[in-house]
Amino acid sequence: MRRTNNYWLCYSLSFSFFLLLIIVVNQFNSNTYLLTTTANRKNIQIIIRVEDGAETYTKEILIVDELNDSTAIEGKPIQNKLSTMQNNTQMTEVIEKILEDARTNIKNELSNYNFSYSGANLLEDLVMESGGQPQRTLIISSWRSGSTFFGDLIDSIPSSYYHYEPLLMFGIKQIRTPAEAGEALKIVKNMFKCNFDGLEEYFEFESKDLDLFSHSTRLWDYCKYDNKNDLCFDAEFTSRLCKLFPFQSMKLVRLRLRLVEEIIKDKDLNVKVILLTRDPRGLMQSRRQRHFCELSSDCWEPSLVCADMISDYVAAKSILQKYPDRLLVIRFEELVLQQNTTLERILNFLDIDARKAFNDFLQTHTNVEVAGVHSTFKVSRNIPFKWKHTLDFTYISELQMACKEAMHLWGYKMAYNQTHMTSEDFNPVDDYKIS
Ligand SMILES: *[C@@H]1O[C@H](CO)[C@@H](O)[C@H](O)[C@H]1NC(C)=O
Ligand SMILES: *[C@@H]1O[C@H](CO)[C@@H](O)[C@H](O)[C@H]1NC(C)=O
Ligand SMILES: *[C@@H]1O[C@H](CO)[C@@H](O)[C@H](O)[C@H]1NC(C)=O
Repeated sequence: MRRTNNYWLCYSLSFSFFLLLIIVVNQFNSNTYLLTTTANRKNIQIIIRVEDGAETYTKEILIVDELNDSTAIEGKPIQNKLSTMQNNTQMTEVIEKILEDARTNIKNELSNYNFSYSGANLLEDLVMESGGQPQRTLIISSWRSGSTFFGDLIDSIPSSYYHYEPLLMFGIKQIRTPAEAGEALKIVKNMFKCNFDGLEEYFEFESKDLDLFSHSTRLWDYCKYDNKNDLCFDAEFTSRLCKLFPFQSMKLVRLRLRLVEEIIKDKDLNVKVILLTRDPRGLMQSRRQRHFCELSSDCWEPSLVCADMISDYVAAKSILQKYPDRLLVIRFEELVLQQNTTLERILNFLDIDARKAFNDFLQTHTNVEVAGVHSTFKVSRNIPFKWKHTLDFTYISELQMACKEAMHLWGYKMAYNQTHMTSEDFNPVDDYKIS
């Protein structure tokens, strides 16, 4: 008896749900029917697809449809239009609309920006599309040095275009051979000039991992207009959008500083470089939790990692002598433990009025988990010293042997034994001298 009751309850519930479904579907159909009166079937498909992806551009596409209707009235055969709904004219209209929106948004976002801070009079002085020269910031770092967090901090500058890891496709390794370095530098220079020609491999790589790609927040905001994100991986669109932004930043973890001098020297590029380095013990503690690191000795082998740190030190010292206003060196521990002073150094260095943006960013990203495939990052004060309590002294002792010179140059103190290492009194961060 009870069983039958349950059966009937279940049956009537399913039936109600089915009825509800029919009502919803009808509602939906009537909406689409309304649309059919002003647009054709294929248009509707586009509209629905756009609504699934991002609502923002639905209206724009409708406007485009109206424009197309008027061209049809002007005498273009309607049949032609029906068969090539997603043809170039249609696409061009969408693209022009997106770019116009971006221009307006950038102007609005910077309406209170003090351009004399940036050595300019007007926004146009910093915008490539109008013949200006943007302010470019290049972050040089290595895996698990806090560079994702730092990159996102710099990306918080209003109307800043972020070229996220353009050397992703080189894999988990440091770029060392002259041939690879040449190719890498060419990519970096081209991207900073918003030239994406010949970067099919980069787009291919990014399109497979949208989590990585979504770090390029400004591009993402404008290109994600449909499910396929085709525009995001279109060199011509990306280039035109990129050229609207007065601030451009880029982060690289695969290129050592000595190779970057060529970019600093290039006056046309007008790049300021920030080197972000980290205690190799904290670095390795963090890397040992990442499987990708096991693939490459450049990532897990302390002697290679620390040779790179020495190389960075030597390069930084030399660059600081030749181009003192082009390079800023920051240790990750300073960024976390002396946030205010470090922030002042960054602001003074960049010549960008970013104080408010940085403060807002830090308000929301300190002690907060920032999720993302490669970016899970909690910026709390205990992060720099986590290694003291999670790595065993045998490993630390070997690492310190391989890293003695690098640690000395960058001002990191040795731990002598297990007790010393884990002691609260032991502060591994010391002063260091570079200029
Ligand atoms: C704009 O910045 C310049 C240079 O940093 C400063 O001298 C000037 O007072 C600022 N103007 C305003 C309105 O804040
Ligand atoms: C750092 O700056 C913030 C915001 O400007 C301020 O609230 C805080 O007290 C400062 N901290 C230190 C240690 O000076
Ligand atoms: C550990 O190193 C410290 C500092 O050098 C030293 O004072 C202490 O005696 C050492 N402890 C042990 C157990 O070796």
